[in-house]
Amino acid sequence: MTVKAYISGTGSYLPPKVLTNKDLERMVDTSDEWIVQRSGIKERHIAENETTADMAIKAAARAIEMAGISADQINGIIVATTTPDSTFPAVAVKVQSALGIPACPAFDVQAVCSGFVYALSTADAYIRTGLMSRVLVIGAEKMSSIIDWTDRGTCVLFADGAGAVILEARDVEDGEGLEGQGIHSTHLYANGEGKDLLYVDGGVSSTGDSGHIKMEGKEVFKYAVTYLAEIVAEVLAQNKIHPDQIDWLVPHQANIRIIESTAKKLDMSMDKVIVTIDRHGNTSAASIPLALDEAVRDGRIKRGQMVLTEAMGGGLTWGAVLFRF
Ligand code: ACO
Repeated sequence: MTVKAYISGTGSYLPPKVLTNKDLERMVDTSDEWIVQRSGIKERHIAENETTADMAIKAAARAIEMAGISADQINGIIVATTTPDSTFPAVAVKVQSALGIPACPAFDVQAVCSGFVYALSTADAYIRTGLMSRVLVIGAEKMSSIIDWTDRGTCVLFADGAGAVILEARDVEDGEGLEGQGIHSTHLYANGEGKDLLYVDGGVSSTGDSGHIKMEGKEVFKYAVTYLAEIVAEVLAQNKIHPDQIDWLVPHQANIRIIESTAKKLDMSMDKVIVTIDRHGNTSAASIPLALDEAVRDGRIKRGQMVLTEAMGGGLTWGAVLFRF
């Protein structure tokens, strides 16, 4: 008998303030047409008086409710974020105290836009080794706090929000294979050679402030398309599956052209791809659980369906997770 980790509940939260491309036209030299054509973004949510932890707590509460568990049954909390409320403590412990989760491992992981895939893979590993059995995994970001609002190359892209899942252990009979519910494979990579293509020009041990996002957009785009094509090919090969066995692609929402390129590599029609970039922008580690929760709640993603999720972000980092929901 082995153990597999499956998603028992999803939740998400978006701050109420919506910033449209028209609003941005009044702030920097840009146009709705440029932003939509180059990125697919029409509007995004921006947190005003809320922190990353505030948003994480709301998303987590919704995931706990859907899972039908109580907070005191959770025995691990992993938060993916690049924009924590403070240098320390971790956002994870703020979530723990707000929701009344008993003593357990609680920590943040930082892999920028790949953060949720990293956090989900970490939680999966803890569950498979038996160290945790019910883990709250969150992706939460307040990217607006590290945006340079005078840099039109980046300020039109990033946004705020949070998403969460509950990952639970399930006993698996030997030989169950890919038909069983749960995470089938996780794939994580980083290439530090790309660290200067997408970074923040500040930090605790350098400038002493949190800094702002700097990005070589064109270069990052090229790496994203290449690495994501490679990683989805690896997922297919390792699991010995054909793209038509995947019901849904839930990609990180950085750019509609990157998403379309990955779908094309998978020979997948865009109506099997969950897209939120038009309304959410790039919420970094929050984008995948936000998209997943939206599609679960509106009934597109159903129990028993196969889902592939992937992301590429600063670092450079990239990764993918294949699971049956
Ligand atoms: N409005 C109007 N013009 C603009 C804007 C804007 N908001 N931003 C840039 N431009 C101009 C540039 O100045 C440039 O003008 P020039 O030709 O006169 O020099 C022109 O538009 C083209 O700029 P590019 O940067 O070459 O445009 P590109 O087609 O590459 O699109 C974009 C830019 C959308 C940023 C794209 O490169 C992209 O999506 N890159 C990947 C982003 C990504 O995936 N990041 C990873 C995840 S994020 C994370 O990890 C935190």
